[in-house]
Amino acid sequence: MDKKMQQAFNEQIKNELYSAYIYLAMAADLEARTLPGFAHWMKVQYKEEVSHAMKMFEFLNDRGVKVLLQGIPQPTLEYASVLEIFEATLKHEQKVTALINNLCDLAKELNDRAATVFLQWFVSEQVEEEKNATQIIQTLKMIKPEGPALIMLDRELAKRE
Ligand code: FEO
Repeated sequence: MDKKMQQAFNEQIKNELYSAYIYLAMAADLEARTLPGFAHWMKVQYKEEVSHAMKMFEFLNDRGVKVLLQGIPQPTLEYASVLEIFEATLKHEQKVTALINNLCDLAKELNDRAATVFLQWFVSEQVEEEKNATQIIQTLKMIKPEGPALIMLDRELAKRE
């Protein structure tokens, strides 16, 4: 694998683990607000991000490339509201989408067909990720903060598998 592609994948493994760390910090904030359903949703999100990093980790292994792990920054620890948490989630996912698109462009430029095919899964996944965050933001905007509807939504989000 081209060195530039290797470096870009190592960087994206860090970005996925950083995403996991952000969502784990959000889960902690939601737990502190006594919203266990929202916190559960974020913990599932955290696990998904770890699995994204591991998909890339295994892909590099399969290609005979040694993974070089990078430092992960500290995430934001406190948010002003539940809505702010989900707005930050969407903004973060939009950034990740741009990063995945850059990876796709690089794979194409380097004529790395295996990487191009591998990255298609991530392209589709980002559509799903942005959709999920957007739907929760829209629902949160429809309900009163701290009202009974927030508790109903908390129970709904507790069902995420
Ligand atoms: Fe791994 Fe949420 O993108």
